[in-house]
Amino acid sequence: MLKGHSLKSDKLHFSDQTYSHNFMIKTIEPVRSLNGVITDLPADKSIAHRAALFAAIAKGDSTIKNYSNAADPQSTLECLKGLGVDITMKGSTIVIHGRGRKGLRPVHEKLDCGNSGTTMRLLSGILSGSNQQVCLTGDASLSSRPMARVLNPLREMGALCESTEGERAPLCFKNHGGLEAITYELPMASAQVKSCVLLAGLFARGETRVVENLPSRDHTERMLGLEIDFNADGTRVIKSSRSVELRPINMSIPGDISGAAFWMVAGSLVPDSRIELKQVGINPTRSAVMSILKRMGADIRIANTVDDASLQGGEPTADIIIKSNNLKAVELLPAEIPNAIDEIPVLAVAMCMAKGTSKVRGASELRAKETDRISAVVEMLTKAGADVTEYEDGFEVKGNPDFVPKPAVYASHHDHRIAMASAVMAMCASDSSSIEGADCVAVSYPSFFEHLAKLTS
Ligand code: S3P
Repeated sequence: MLKGHSLKSDKLHFSDQTYSHNFMIKTIEPVRSLNGVITDLPADKSIAHRAALFAAIAKGDSTIKNYSNAADPQSTLECLKGLGVDITMKGSTIVIHGRGRKGLRPVHEKLDCGNSGTTMRLLSGILSGSNQQVCLTGDASLSSRPMARVLNPLREMGALCESTEGERAPLCFKNHGGLEAITYELPMASAQVKSCVLLAGLFARGETRVVENLPSRDHTERMLGLEIDFNADGTRVIKSSRSVELRPINMSIPGDISGAAFWMVAGSLVPDSRIELKQVGINPTRSAVMSILKRMGADIRIANTVDDASLQGGEPTADIIIKSNNLKAVELLPAEIPNAIDEIPVLAVAMCMAKGTSKVRGASELRAKETDRISAVVEMLTKAGADVTEYEDGFEVKGNPDFVPKPAVYASHHDHRIAMASAVMAMCASDSSSIEGADCVAVSYPSFFEHLAKLTS
């Protein structure tokens, strides 16, 4: 029998009330322990978007296994279908009939990117490069996010694009006279901007160079096999051009470390827990969450590492094992911010129960995510009764190992990561809490609440 099973089975039930199609209130009861093995974490969505997009502009059939059924990667597939790409799906395996660099043909005037910033920003590079006349739209959250960061370099290359006030979506791309390569120093650490420019560079005259000061996730570079110069000052220059060969992609997408992060924190905080997560992507530009938690004293171990560049699009994977442990405060280092950007909301929950003052600064990019994640994190921690101070570029938490979150009604702000971080906070609370708009977990992790039920059953 799993440890703690008999103690908690009578207490654990989740009641859902759906007030409208997309406004679910989820009640989360405190948990006594989390135990079990998760073999089906959602597939990494950053890698999934890229595999699908790159397969579409390669010539020939690509087979992508373990493609995620989460809303964001599905938005990428819908957009590709709207560009005339044939996609065959069998369970979680998809076959993309790639049309080559010159083969995309919009079959609709508008392509809906849903909630997915990665879809919109990466596709902007491909549409500009391949000279398509089509508009990209998104939901309310995506339509309020900054797009100047991709439109500026694309226009510098010769792209034509109309947007709404303040450079927001919809983005309408127009025909132009062809793109010219540029050298572009990233004004912020952003894998989406980096990838957008590199993708446009695949179609431009000359060699495009993107200069990166702080490394962000490098899935694009790995999957396309791009050439990189590593400078003595720590900057990286990534190059793309028409001579980069686009080959069909055959890979299985690893489990999403950003989804795994919720269990790394929950398993650390909830006493008597042991969680094993199978086949998680541990790309070094994505795994700072593990080193940050280890620095906090978390008991996290990896096993069964597979690190063969020829497999899985060059992405290493491993099993991750988490056991509960006492935590101490941490200060995030500048280089860790882009590497752990999506995991900061759940790390903030860990900081509440860690001894001492934890600091997250230099993280103003969090304000440009699906919602303003600095303000959403501060609201979540305040509702739980934690001692948190907000800064323009981050926050500070005075933690305490004896801290027990107050029962609360959390607002997801329709942001999947805020909903799941709130759920982790609620697992540690003294009584039941609820999360408004919890159905948004489907953006990256549709089975999140099923996995919670499994780990507590
Ligand atoms: C992503 C990059 C990150 C991240 C997002 C996915 C990607 O955004 O927050 O969830 O797949 O390239 P930025 O590159 O804008 O920081």
